[in-house]
Parts: sequence; structure tokens; C-alpha cells
Amino acid sequence: MPSEQDTIVQQAVEHLICPSEESIRIATKADAESLFLLINKAFFQILRRYKREAFQNRMETVDAVYNIMEKGIFLILTASDHEQSAILNDGCSIVACIFMNHAAFGELPVETADAKLSLKINLLAVHPEMVRRGIGQYMMQAVESMAKIFRYTHVFLLVVSVNKHLVDMYTKWGFKIIETKTLIDCGIDAEKFSVSCHMIMMEKELL
Ligand SMILES: CC(C)(COP(=O)(O)OP(=O)(O)OC[C@H]1O[C@@H](n2cnc3c(N)ncnc32)[C@H](O)[C@@H]1OP(=O)(O)O)[C@@H](O)C(=O)NCCC(=O)NCCS
Repeated sequence: MPSEQDTIVQQAVEHLICPSEESIRIATKADAESLFLLINKAFFQILRRYKREAFQNRMETVDAVYNIMEKGIFLILTASDHEQSAILNDGCSIVACIFMNHAAFGELPVETADAKLSLKINLLAVHPEMVRRGIGQYMMQAVESMAKIFRYTHVFLLVVSVNKHLVDMYTKWGFKIIETKTLIDCGIDAEKFSVSCHMIMMEKELL
């Protein structure tokens, strides 16, 4: 029987068309290993562009995935048997993921924080063999739809400035730049970076 949370996910996505063969659900601890594989695989190409060699794993250990799961919710799109054997070929049972949690105090610009109920989005990842099929956008739409059910007014995320293509992608999806922050302001260790960069905060109002 589906959990209450998964029923909400199904309600959130019922008006969306899923570009993959399988369906979306909330990850459980049993999904941590597959999430670890998916996230590191998906982020591999972009982290090489701006992180030092020793820090190019987006998730250092499976325990890091467990830790993150304590702080919010991962939505995952599981791979069908056909996708797993014919396309993914690496034992990964998840095609895509996206993480969401409530904005922590001090994360948003002071002048706007009071007026908003903001959901923070992180770790959007699509398996490299499955990109450019609309899956990333589907995951984002699913989160936005869930956020509305829980009466959030905004969703926001941070992009590393060197990833101009991601800023363009999120702009296309209706996000606007609201602030730039230094790595230190975001609690990120600049020593891990091989090029100079900052963080761009983007936000979307949920209408
Ligand atoms: C970024 C990512 C999530 C996009 O997933 P996706 O399933 O390929 O995205 P979609 O197919 O839904 O793309 C929708 C639109 O976004 C834009 N887009 C997606 N990937 C893009 C890219 N690499 N460069 C430029 N635009 C891109 C395009 O406009 C695309 O529409 P189009 O294919 O009709 O041109 C995926 O490439 C990924 O996992 N990348 C590595 C991890 C990452 O960068 N995550 C984001 C961290 S902030």
C-alpha cells in the first residue's frame, strides 16, 4: 500500500506527462546506494570544470546521502527493467532525483524572507544516458506541484556561477536571479574549487 507521502506525490504529478517509463516516488533509505551512484555520475562532467580533483564526487560517501535524507525529501524516478538493462547498463535503478527541504533561517535575502514560504531545491540529477528527454523539467514540475500542495509560495536554488547553461535552463523554467553570494556566505569551502566562482540564487514564484 502506498504511503501517505507517496499518495501526495501521485496527486502532485497527475496532470504531468512523465517522459520516462517508470513513475516517481519518495526515496527511502533503501535507495541511498543507487542515489549515490546516480548523483556522482550525473555531476561528474560539470564538477570537473570547477572543482579540484580530490573533490569531484558530489557525494563523498553513501553516508552523506543518508545524512541529507534526514534533512528533507528526495523525489526519485525509478528505472523500468527495460531502461535498466537497455539504457543505463550500470546497475543504477534510478533515472533522476531532486531534493527539497524547507529554507533555513538566514538563507534568503533578509528583506524578502518574511513574506515568503520558500522551499529549497538541490541535487537535481538525471542519469547521463537519459538527459535531454524532458526528465529534468518533469522532476522540477513535480517538486513545484508538491510545494503548492504544502502552500509554499516560492521555490529557490543555488547555481555555481560557472554553470551558465544551468542559469539559462532555470531561466527558461521560470526562475529569476535574486541574489549572488560568495562561496563563504554559503558555507562552502573555496579551497575545493579550482577556478574563481560565486553562487547565484534563483527563485520562482509559485502561481
Ligand atoms: C541539468 C540536468 C538536470 C538537465 O536534465 P534534463 O533531463 O537533460 O533536462 P530536460 O531534458 O528537462 O531539459 C529541458 C531544457 O533545459 C535545457 N537544458 C537541459 N540541459 C541543458 C544543458 N546541458 N545545456 C543547456 N541547456 C540545457 C534545455 O533548454 C532543455 O530543453 P531542450 O532539450 O528542448 O533544448 C541534467 O543534465 C543533469 O543531471 N546534469 C548534471 C547535474 C546538474 O547539473 N544538476 C543541476 C545542478 S544545479
